Amino acid sequence: MTDIKKGLAGVVVDYTAISKVNPDTNSLLYRGYPVQELAATQPFEAVAYLLWNGELPTDEQLAELVAYERSHRTLDPEIIAAIDLLPLEAHPMDVVRTAVSVLGASDPAAYDNSRESDLEKSRLLFAKIPAMVAYDQRRRRGQGIVEPRDDLDYSHNFLWMTFGEEPDSVVARAFNVSMILYAEHSFNASTFTARVIASTTADLYSAVVGAIGALKGPLHGGANEAVMHIFDEIGTASNVGPWLDEALASKRKIMGFGHRVYKHGDSRVPTMKAALDTLVEHYDAQELAELYDTLEADFVSRKGIYPNLDYPSGPAYHLMGFDTLTFTPLFVAARVTGWTAHIMEQAASNALIRPLSEYNGVDERHIEGYVPDF
Ligand code: ACO
Repeated sequence: MTDIKKGLAGVVVDYTAISKVNPDTNSLLYRGYPVQELAATQPFEAVAYLLWNGELPTDEQLAELVAYERSHRTLDPEIIAAIDLLPLEAHPMDVVRTAVSVLGASDPAAYDNSRESDLEKSRLLFAKIPAMVAYDQRRRRGQGIVEPRDDLDYSHNFLWMTFGEEPDSVVARAFNVSMILYAEHSFNASTFTARVIASTTADLYSAVVGAIGALKGPLHGGANEAVMHIFDEIGTASNVGPWLDEALASKRKIMGFGHRVYKHGDSRVPTMKAALDTLVEHYDAQELAELYDTLEADFVSRKGIYPNLDYPSGPAYHLMGFDTLTFTPLFVAARVTGWTAHIMEQAASNALIRPLSEYNGVDERHIEGYVPDF
């Protein structure tokens, strides 16, 4: 009997030097650094540099990346036109997927798969995706585009371009933490998708577009959006018990809980929960906090399944003022750093990813009356 590993569960398919997930010690390292330490001390720009290059940047290296990012934030007219072609009802994940595709189709260097060129594309996507996401949320609200401000860092500017107001530092700090925590997580479904596409030596943009498609599903990145839908359904903390009775009786998955790798809690949750707590205080959102705590306590005590990163980040993005539909594109803006680091790592020691399958269809059969004429 062939030993089939459904969902590739437990299968180690390659080496990676980018991040290490250790569910036993509940730790996540980016290039050796605990993610909590990076979230506490670094701007997201420095973490992007780390993921791509293997080391934290020197002051000059960081200044160079920051200057690049600030000078490439403006959306070109063809990207704006492509976004405007899409209906306002289009899911923002479809919008960002399309906009990235247009960016790739317009890049004359798209098919140059050298590391130098792919690093340049990675930096370009890092700078442009926030502008795509911010513009899409604004157009859905009937608001015009907000031009970027090159006196603001990545997180402050992202919030500025989305809301047209300079954010409070508490909010920008929580946003920076969320970007760092979402940036990278080894061979998750979207990153593996990017690596599969890169392994065919297709261009980096195609790999990122494929990864966005994989991230969209509610079993992966789409869960942060789904968490808010659950909160809306439940309404108040007092309704958690009856709501959970019904949800579990009908075998519903509770979004924001569970993980393929972490079975005793997601290493990123305490850091994001602390950031959420600062937002709860800032926005005086005690009711939401009570709902959050009650659902977590009740579900964990019934099922022993713990929250994943999407559980605290959904309500955090909600408090910041993002539309629920925009949450997963925020994940894209962060994870594009990890995806592109993996695409370059795959290219550096490539082997076409092509697993096998065990056939379990009907036995060989033939077309009636068919006589070979050769
Ligand atoms: N709610 C209810 N039951 C759950 C949940 C959940 N969130 N997660 C797991 N279970 C149950 C399953 O029903 C299953 O029970 P059974 O054995 O009685 O059939 C058991 O736990 C194992 O679950 P699987 O789905 O087989 O485990 P897997 O490792 O494949 O799943 C996954 C991981 C897909 C993340 C799952 O926990 C889930 O669907 N969670 C909800 C979606 C979610 O939050 N995704 C975000 C992932 S993290 C991220 O992208 C940042």
